[in-house]
Amino acid sequence: MSERHLDRIRRAAKQVEADEVDALLVTPSADLLYLAAYDPPPLERLTCLVVRPGADPIMLVPELERPRALASPIGETIDIATWRDGEDPYAALTPLLPEAGRIAVTDSMWAVHLLGARRARADAEFVPGSNVLAKLRSIKDADELELLSRAARGADEAFRQLTDSRLEGLREEEVALLLGSLLTEAGHESVSFTIVGSGPNGASPHHEPGGRTIRAGDPVVLDFGGRIGGYCSDLSRTVCVGDPPRGFQEVYEVVREAQEAAFQAVQPGIAARDVDEVARAVIEGAGYGERFIHRTGHGIGLEEHEPPWIASDNDQSLEAGMTFSIEPGIYLDGRFGVRIEDIVSVTETGAQRLNRASRDLETVA
Ligand code: CO
Repeated sequence: MSERHLDRIRRAAKQVEADEVDALLVTPSADLLYLAAYDPPPLERLTCLVVRPGADPIMLVPELERPRALASPIGETIDIATWRDGEDPYAALTPLLPEAGRIAVTDSMWAVHLLGARRARADAEFVPGSNVLAKLRSIKDADELELLSRAARGADEAFRQLTDSRLEGLREEEVALLLGSLLTEAGHESVSFTIVGSGPNGASPHHEPGGRTIRAGDPVVLDFGGRIGGYCSDLSRTVCVGDPPRGFQEVYEVVREAQEAAFQAVQPGIAARDVDEVARAVIEGAGYGERFIHRTGHGIGLEEHEPPWIASDNDQSLEAGMTFSIEPGIYLDGRFGVRIEDIVSVTETGAQRLNRASRDLETVA
């Protein structure tokens, strides 16, 4: 276990050097899980792994969490420094940092910790850690791909079970709870989100499921996910309760075609923005370009949303081992929304869908 993580830390140190960064500071987050398999509570007390080229990694932890850090998979193999309540943790961090140069920090580092580190090293330039770590984290190894596939199949199974349930007469929030329990039954250890947007609520892509009662003739946007083995699922389907409203089927077909076209376009070497463009072109061609109000997709792994971004402003080339969503949508205010989302992985020759749920329009009771 620890060998894999020590190797990741070594590769991170090499990437830090290649990117002309002088230190990488990793606070509790998916970054720390990825590099060290260490998952302490992200709190006001500073925990920080410091990765520097040409130096051994060292982790600064609160004294009271030293036993916990030592018990973690890399606890016995890297140096651990401590600070105590009542001491200034940033003073303890200072000697571990370069005096100047560029310091990369975990994107989600708490602002108080970043401000403390900046006080400690006022001459350094602080940059986002994702500049460095996305190059490692976005290429999944075989074990990570397997966990992402299991998570995707669990989400597929939850969706299948949901379509066997009667939705008419339920409130959105009840369907959201049901989705959560179906995800758990399908092997998820945690549920991250359950979006249920019925009827006109589907036109809000991140609708918060509420008290609206689902009626016959409602399209329902379902977008949900959680974690299996630490890795995330994220599946969207749009179903119809009974007969769809006028104009719905045409919009559904446009989204399905856009999703398929983007998937077919994925191969190593293509720019992320070109995949976005393929989906967008289908939707624009059908006259709904203004109603596709978000990017085509996002990377997924230890986090629900992580690089690479499948977006019009990302010229990064896709590589084998990357995993991301393809989730075009059309949102018609006051009427309904349609979104279809699968997680896909880039293979040596093209792409593979990790989700297997049917993309045909499902009519539910
Ligand atoms: Co998504």
